[in-house]
Amino acid sequence: MTSNRKKIALVGLGAAAKTIHLPAYSKLANLELVGGHDPAITPAAGKGAFPFPVYEDVNTLLEQTKPDILAIASPTQFHYGLAEQGLKYGCHIFCEKPFTTTLDEAHQLIALSEKQQRWIVVNNEFRFMNIYEAAKDKIGSPGFGDLLFINAQQSFYVNEKTEAGWRGNDPQRTCKEFGIHVLDLCRYFFGEEPLRISARMPKPSNPTGPDYLNLIQLDFTGGRSAQITLDRLTRGRHRYLDLRLDGSKASIETEFGGNVQFTAGIRGGDRKPFVGFDVSLGGRALQYHSEKAKKIASDPLDIFANATSKLLKNFIDAIDNGGVPACSAQDNIKTLALMLAAYTSNDQGKPVPFAEHWS
Ligand SMILES: NC(=O)c1ccc[n+]([C@@H]2O[C@H](COP(=O)([O-])OP(=O)(O)OC[C@H]3O[C@@H](n4cnc5c(N)ncnc54)[C@H](O)[C@@H]3O)[C@@H](O)[C@H]2O)c1
Repeated sequence: MTSNRKKIALVGLGAAAKTIHLPAYSKLANLELVGGHDPAITPAAGKGAFPFPVYEDVNTLLEQTKPDILAIASPTQFHYGLAEQGLKYGCHIFCEKPFTTTLDEAHQLIALSEKQQRWIVVNNEFRFMNIYEAAKDKIGSPGFGDLLFINAQQSFYVNEKTEAGWRGNDPQRTCKEFGIHVLDLCRYFFGEEPLRISARMPKPSNPTGPDYLNLIQLDFTGGRSAQITLDRLTRGRHRYLDLRLDGSKASIETEFGGNVQFTAGIRGGDRKPFVGFDVSLGGRALQYHSEKAKKIASDPLDIFANATSKLLKNFIDAIDNGGVPACSAQDNIKTLALMLAAYTSNDQGKPVPFAEHWS
């Protein structure tokens, strides 16, 4: 496999840029960050704040740096215009999720990218987290068997900081911003499109506010299904994402967040005593046979940046060596469509057929 050095430029220099993109790029020796732009940051202010030049507009950024890849980490409503500008300039695009705000915009960008013979890759990077890669590897193996059911749970403690700015003002908050990662994981694990999606988004505390409670069900072929509960009403513990994948021979449980854990107790099922010690900084995946657990993967503390760098490496390999990159827009439009279908199901109060339109 060959790999030539690539130049990347970044537009949108907010939280995702600083905590995910910059550390992800720094892990890739063949990627050079050549410049950035953010309408809220002048070139002078950018000088002290960033280790690369900040330009006053996107056009100057493109002209001065001539990047191979334009990365987009602005609020979602601007993804379409920025991706169009980058494609017309001849760049490949690395775009934050959600890809666009409408399917029409996504279709238009895909058509333009095909005309320009450039790729768009969308940063639904959860597929590249070690814990989910390991779970995917087990599906269909003799020890795990067939995937039958996924249970996904989030309990997220919202506060002024998590709801600051454009996010907190969007009535489509939880499913659009976070649920889209879980829906993408369900498509990835089952390896097919769900037959239908049913979603309810009750708003018991603020009827006109954001969708802080998502109760989503996906039905797959053969009676297999996924149940997703995203609970941002909670005033209790913050659990970013817990998944249980039930296979015909075993179960896998994944969790986010750091553990340096010594455990001891009596097991619920067979009443036998146990002791355990585990260090998992960013997240871990355990495979269970009844009460017996074996750790199959963990992630580093910078789990988001690490997964994003793996996705970008896959992208660069596809540019250099041919093949379709993971999370290409041609695939990711289905994740976008599934997220939008969740809101349609909630608004119409009935399940929305999916696979018949998208397989
Ligand atoms: N993949 C992930 O895990 C992940 C995590 C967090 C956020 N995101 C996504 O990243 C994107 C940005 O989120 P964020 O948390 O960094 O938001 P943010 O508000 O912290 O940063 C957005 C930045 O974009 C700038 N901006 C506004 N309009 C712009 C324009 N027209 N062109 C260029 N820049 C513009 C803003 O000034 C701001 O600095 C969103 O699409 C979000 O969904 C993805």
